[in-house]
Amino acid sequence: MTRALPVLLLLCSTCALGAAQQEQLQQEARALVQQFVGQLKPQLQQAMQEGGPTRAIAVCATAAPTIADSLSESSGWRVRRVSLQQRNASRAVPDKWERAVLLQFDASASAGEKPMNLHLGELQGTRYRYMQAQGAEAICLTCHGENLAQPVIDALQQYYPDDMATGYQLGQVRGAISLSREM
Ligand code: HEC
Repeated sequence: MTRALPVLLLLCSTCALGAAQQEQLQQEARALVQQFVGQLKPQLQQAMQEGGPTRAIAVCATAAPTIADSLSESSGWRVRRVSLQQRNASRAVPDKWERAVLLQFDASASAGEKPMNLHLGELQGTRYRYMQAQGAEAICLTCHGENLAQPVIDALQQYYPDDMATGYQLGQVRGAISLSREM
């Protein structure tokens, strides 16, 4: 009995610390998601306005990986995008956990949940992982939807011969931003 108390205290302090730490990590991950989207979307929109979707594909092909890499470097997190039907075959193939989470996001979106509300954070040993779904909005369908314009099909073929990221409908989960950090 006399020995049980310190053990209990120890357990409770680690679980409290864990929860606070996870909250902090989740906030950092959310901030990085905002930064990723906040940097990519204006470039995408500007390129669309200036040169249409084929120009935007060329911009996106370099801008998206560059943003992911520079955010990873500056933050200490690993930042990338993944999808069950990826466009970029060298970067966006999900690992086992990401795949399971994406399937879960899909199921929730089919049940009516908005993709922007779908996220998941998890502590895995010494690694914290976080995923935020990205939904197919109207602007996305120009390059990810059904019945794409021929110049779009041609440009995608040129940059991404193994593209699987078409055929989406409004409100579906296009993919997710996936972040992780070693602690
Ligand atoms: C102008 C065409 C275009 C538009 C519009 C567009 N995308 Fe993409 N998308 C691309 C290209 C090109 C890539 C591959 C970028 C790369 O190499 O990382 C891509 C990749 C992605 C990826 C990474 C996973 C993968 O499949 O490689 C996600 C997630 C994604 N797009 C979501 C969206 C969402 C959400 C929108 C709307 C807000 C959107 N895209 C609008 C062209 C577009």
